[in-house]
Formats: sequence, C-alpha cells, structure tokens
Amino acid sequence: MAAIELSEVRKVYAGGVEAVKGVSLTIPDGAFCVLVGPSGCGKSTLLRMVAGLESISGGTVRIGGRVVNDLEPASRDIAMVFQNYALYPHMTVRQNLEYGLKNRRTPKEEIARRVEEAARILEIGQYLDRRPGQLSGGQRQRVAMGRAIVREPAAFLFDEPLSNLDAKLRVTMRAEIRRLQRRLKTTSLYVTHDQLEAMTLADQLVVLNAGRIEQAGSPMAIYEKPASLFVATFIGSPAMNLVPLDGPGASPLATLAGPGKAKQTLGIRPEHMRLLEGGAGVRADEIVLDLSVSGVEVVGAESYVTGRLANSGPEIAVRVPGYSHLEPGASVKAAAPLGAFHRFDAESGRRLELA
Ligand SMILES: Nc1ncnc2c1ncn2[C@@H]1O[C@H](COP(=O)(O)OP(=O)(O)O)[C@@H](O)[C@H]1O
Ligand SMILES: [Mg+2]
Repeated sequence: MAAIELSEVRKVYAGGVEAVKGVSLTIPDGAFCVLVGPSGCGKSTLLRMVAGLESISGGTVRIGGRVVNDLEPASRDIAMVFQNYALYPHMTVRQNLEYGLKNRRTPKEEIARRVEEAARILEIGQYLDRRPGQLSGGQRQRVAMGRAIVREPAAFLFDEPLSNLDAKLRVTMRAEIRRLQRRLKTTSLYVTHDQLEAMTLADQLVVLNAGRIEQAGSPMAIYEKPASLFVATFIGSPAMNLVPLDGPGASPLATLAGPGKAKQTLGIRPEHMRLLEGGAGVRADEIVLDLSVSGVEVVGAESYVTGRLANSGPEIAVRVPGYSHLEPGASVKAAAPLGAFHRFDAESGRRLELA
C-alpha cells in the first residue's frame, strides 16, 4: 500500500530531447491512475522513471513517502506489466511466475501459496505447465499480470498492456484489470494512448501533451469540462466539434461570445446536437445550425451524420439514434442547447467559462 508522488519530474535524454517537462502528480494509495496522451508525449518515459528503468533528470519521485530517485528498480517495491508481456519463453508459466520470487529468496511454501493464489484469481491454473508460446495473447497477458501479482508490490505500473490484443479481447481484459485492481487495491499507474481505455479504467485521469500535464481529474469531470482545446478534442469519440467564432457559419453562435474580445473557438459534442427532421421544433434554449451533409457513419445502435457548416464552415458531427437515411449533399438543420457549448481562447487554447 503506497501513494505515488511526482514532483516537478523532468527527463532530458542524451542528445537534448526534453521528453518530460516538469510533471507534478499525486496518486493516492489504492487509486487507479491512467496517463493518456498521443504517441511520443512522454508516457513511457514517465512510467519508466517511476519504475527506475530510466534515470530522472530533475524533480522527485516518491513511493510510499520514500524518495526513490536513486533506488534500483528491484528496491522500489513495484511491478511492471508491458505491452509485449516480457515473459521468459523457455520457462513454463509456473516458472515465469516463480522466477522473481526465487530471486528474492522467498521461502518455498510462500512462493507456492502466492502462485496458487494468482493462478486462481486469473484463472490460469490449467496452463501452469505450458510455455508462453503455447498460449494465446490474452492468456499470455494474464500470465504477465500474474507475475506482477505474486510480487505483492506496493504499486503496479502498466505500459499499454493491451495494445497487442484484438479489439474484443481488449475490452474483456480491460474489465478484468479493473476488477483485479479493485480487489487487490494496489496503487496503479497505467499508460495508454487509447482515450476510451483511459476513460473506462481510471479513477484519476491525467492527460499528457508534449511532456506536460494538460489536465488531471475524474474521467467525467474532464469529459464535461475539458481545460483546453487539446483535451476537448483528444477525449471523446467522435471528437468534440469546433467552430471558430470569426469563421463561416458561426453567426448563430455570436451570443455565446461573452464580453471578451480575444479570438474564441466554440465546442459542442456530437451527442449534444440533434437533427431537425420530420418537422421537429426548436426549443427556446437552442440555437440552429445549417449543415450540408458530407458523410453518414452507421455504427449500429446509432449513426454519426457529418455536415459542413454553412457550406464553407467546419465539419460538424451529429449523433443520431438508430439508422440515418440521410445522403451526402442533403441540407439539414441541427439544433443544440446553448448551455451545451464549450468556449475556448483560440490562441492559448485554454477553456473560458461561458458568460
Ligand atoms: N532512449 C531515448 N533517447 C532519446 N529520445 C527518446 C528515448 N526514448 C524516447 N525518446 C523520445 O522521448 C519522447 C517521448 O517518448 P515516449 O516516452 O516513448 O512517448 P510515449 O510513450 O508517450 O509514446 C519522444 O519524442 C521520443 O522520441
Ligand atoms: Mg510508450
């Protein structure tokens, strides 16, 4: 049991690349923290500094209150799970699970107890005598998890552990990891570029961009109040629609501009808009936008209709329940409540509260 505390952590690689530019973050004891951001934003670097696999150029990393900056990975009381599983191919599953404990001179009976417990929790008991090559991707990932569990560490670190699995298995394993973490209550730091995975797993979500934290908070708080244009468009799929207030088609939105004179961009999520079809009326709190349909994506339970605003404006996606029969080229009106819009400073990208 341990909190992880990062204070102004920096990483400058030999050659001068500043991969992490001062990150401060506290992950409370027992919390599941997910670090999400695009490829190259510094997620793995940050995780590897916590693990001790990468030297720390500046700042402090504490695990359970203890500064670990200069401790070897083995002395940090953490266990890491990687995307490529990192299992020993010539060893059986049982030997893979036992290996780290034997190295630590854990008593034999204790090793047996922990391996049995992990095998039971992960339902890999029937594979213990196989080698990794004789397992499916999902089973291998479970063994990799098992190897982390038997260590009974103060914290788990995950680096994109599900990226090698197919879409369906990814969803299953995601739920398994979450259940497992709830049960073990081990502080976890999980890194992914997949915003959906991040949203569904996290107690605490941290959005990283170019080596800096853009926003941290609960997944819903971030979804509902993104602090910047970067977060607004990175979290949520399809992405939040953006309309520059001084661009084509924005005149119906002028009332949202507020008193400031700075250039502004408005945002609206696809699910907060509706199409005015079949004589649907407009409510008093709604504004109406004219769209010329450019594409229709039918997902099954819902469709996404994309249209260009006022012919030359930005593309706007609208979520429509069920099957949309609209064809590209059609003209359609979309309505959205004024209160559902987000407002951003177009230059800094920072969120502005609606007036
Ligand atoms: N060993 C290294 N030497 C120099 N630059 C590196 C090294 N590892 C990563 N980088 C650079 O640091 C940045 C962050 O990389 P990384 O932490 O792997 O990002 P992510 O995991 O978010 O994709 C990238 O620009 C990457 O090219
Ligand atoms: Mg990475």
